[in-house]
Amino acid sequence: MMSCEIINVAVDGPAGAGKSTVSRAAAKAMGYIYVDTGALYRAVGVNALRNEIDTKDRQAVAESLSDISVNLVFENGEQKVLLNGEDVSAEIRTPDASMAASDVSAVPKVRDFLFDLQRNIASKNNCIMDGRDIGTVVLPNAKVKVFLTASPEERAMRRFRELSEKGSTVKYEEVLEDLIKRDYNDSHREVAPLKQADDAALLDTTGMTLEKSVESLIKIIKEKV
Ligand code: DC
Repeated sequence: MMSCEIINVAVDGPAGAGKSTVSRAAAKAMGYIYVDTGALYRAVGVNALRNEIDTKDRQAVAESLSDISVNLVFENGEQKVLLNGEDVSAEIRTPDASMAASDVSAVPKVRDFLFDLQRNIASKNNCIMDGRDIGTVVLPNAKVKVFLTASPEERAMRRFRELSEKGSTVKYEEVLEDLIKRDYNDSHREVAPLKQADDAALLDTTGMTLEKSVESLIKIIKEKV
């Protein structure tokens, strides 16, 4: 008998661990969709930046939600994030947007606002969903849970290379400092802090090539599915 069970894979981990690159490649190989939930928090952050809302002012951030819509659409397997219907997929990738996303993601109302959207996508699609709280909060019953990490220095170096390739003049030290700050924010907030779920497999990609990381993730998924 054919099974039509929806398979959800939750991939959590700190900033710059390669979650998105590794998850995207593994999803492609498995025929699943790849869902980057950080893009949602980034879109809320970008909205705050555009409207000059202090991203550390929780009340102002919560109030900003009343007149925005955030959505994810998938075209040819590629995710796009829409803010009030506008594609902001490029604008959400700046260092300012990263920090704004980290700030707004600590606001409980923001997390509630984005919760159903994530659950809905997962309920309808075989997917690899990456974020900080997917295995712990959003999809506690996910078939597969992985905590993907790497050392802060290696993560900062990867992010630095990525930004430099895009023409950014940012320094490695700044990237490392930002990353350590974001790690602290993400893992010390009161709601849904970043932590490894008890039943998540640990995948530490320090010193691993991208190919090897993808292979390791696929292996973990295949063992469970
Ligand atoms: O994965 P990312 O770097 O694009 O995420 C941006 C920020 O969003 C990150 O600092 C923490 C927050 N985030 C979150 O709190 N929960 C998620 N599921 C995904 C991201």
